[in-house]
Amino acid sequence: MTLKPIHITEFLGKDGKATEDYRRMMARIAHGFHQDPGAADVQDYRARRDQAAGFVLRGFEDTTDLPEWAGSGPKPVATILGFPLRINAGKDVIDLWGISGVGVAPTHRRQGLLRSMMHSELETAQRNGFPLAGLTATEGGIYGRFGFGISSRQCTYEVNLRAKPRILTEVLEATGADGGSIVEAEPRGLLELARDLNRRRVEIIPGQISRLTSTMEDGLGIVSLDKESLDPRRACEAFVYRGPRGVDGYAVIEHEGWDKESSRVKVVDFQVATTAAWAGLWDHLFQLDLIDYLTFEGAPGQPLGNLVRNPRDVRLTKDVDLIWTRILDVKTVLESRSYPTDGELVLLIDDPVELVTGAYALRVTDGVGTVTASEYLPESGRRGTQSEDDAELAPGAPRVRLSVDRLASAAFRGCHVEARFGVLRGEGVLQATRLFSVDDEPYCDFDF
Ligand SMILES: CC(C)(COP(=O)(O)OP(=O)(O)OC[C@H]1O[C@@H](n2cnc3c(N)ncnc32)[C@H](O)[C@@H]1OP(=O)(O)O)[C@@H](O)C(=O)NCCC(=O)NCCS
Repeated sequence: MTLKPIHITEFLGKDGKATEDYRRMMARIAHGFHQDPGAADVQDYRARRDQAAGFVLRGFEDTTDLPEWAGSGPKPVATILGFPLRINAGKDVIDLWGISGVGVAPTHRRQGLLRSMMHSELETAQRNGFPLAGLTATEGGIYGRFGFGISSRQCTYEVNLRAKPRILTEVLEATGADGGSIVEAEPRGLLELARDLNRRRVEIIPGQISRLTSTMEDGLGIVSLDKESLDPRRACEAFVYRGPRGVDGYAVIEHEGWDKESSRVKVVDFQVATTAAWAGLWDHLFQLDLIDYLTFEGAPGQPLGNLVRNPRDVRLTKDVDLIWTRILDVKTVLESRSYPTDGELVLLIDDPVELVTGAYALRVTDGVGTVTASEYLPESGRRGTQSEDDAELAPGAPRVRLSVDRLASAAFRGCHVEARFGVLRGEGVLQATRLFSVDDEPYCDFDF
């Protein structure tokens, strides 16, 4: 086996269509997930969107001579896609290096190719100044070893419309929803509004990530990427909330078809930037005729059940991890969230990839965190996997030892469970629980 590294940043030929290299990489990625690589026009669309979003395709090809029936041209056997995104880290919006399309051909698995690709992807992102990397995982057991921790989860809920739930009148009054109106809209005309609402949501929702254009177009039914088609999803319907100061949200719904036992509608996209738009749109969706059940995705503990008369009308049906993040710059990430209480803590961070291993002092004053790293840290990549304490760093502060994957999770979602059950260690465990606690779980409304 002879392997050659792949690094592609140009996906379009002179004719504006996807290059053969791009098509081969996409086919490799699709086959890794047992999926259809898509027709040529879908690949051209993806190549245009990926190029505009700054994607970098990396991996390996096997240059061993093979018979003609094994396929012509270079043969990619391992793939990884990286691209720049932005994420709300709790207070500030910071850069995140998105990772997707991770795959290794079945013939080349368990030989360290993922390890090699992931290490160099993370090192490159860190060198390029990205404080965080992020991905969504097909399996939960793969990425912890590379320092990724769960930063947000996604739940699926079902609303029983047969029970005729309504948002409580006091909620409609208090949020100001009753001062707005709902307008039926053509979903395929809402792309600019989708961009605007995403920008606003990234500013205000911890965990929210900037959406790719392809994600927005798919959410609006402009294309049908789940069916590997550029045809619009014509059955999608949209409702826009107009408040006194302008448009603050929209919901896109799609009926699941009349061949089912019950009549079900899926909320395929729900983008709101104010509580008034949130309450107004839900109240409108609750009044749809001919529908038995409405399903939607939302954050763990989302409030809908609390704001109707019968909480059982809203049922949780699924709860999965969604965004995994990997801290590449401890100072930037911890200084970009807010803290519920003041105090001091030294974090002893263990990192299996040796990128951020070390002792860091966190001081919180008036809810604002400041991080000082030990001055004895070797350069990234040569730090060892176990951090050493630095007695001169915040000498009076309690110490807590934790792995970098648990830090990613703590920074976004808190760490009381890990602290209670011994995953975090040291006399600073209680202080870590207090400082990192959050009122609401962060949320991101798409995967990649
Ligand atoms: C998951 C996948 C990328 C792993 O690639 P690979 O080159 O075989 O992985 P490596 O040989 O580099 O393994 C690195 C480590 O991950 C572990 N690992 C690999 N696949 C794993 C899996 N599916 N679950 C848990 N651990 C896994 C290996 O045991 C190894 O651990 P160790 O170094 O601690 O012993 C590959 O199996 C694949 O393409 N699967 C199908 C597509 C997919 O699931 N992609 C992930 C998308 S998020």
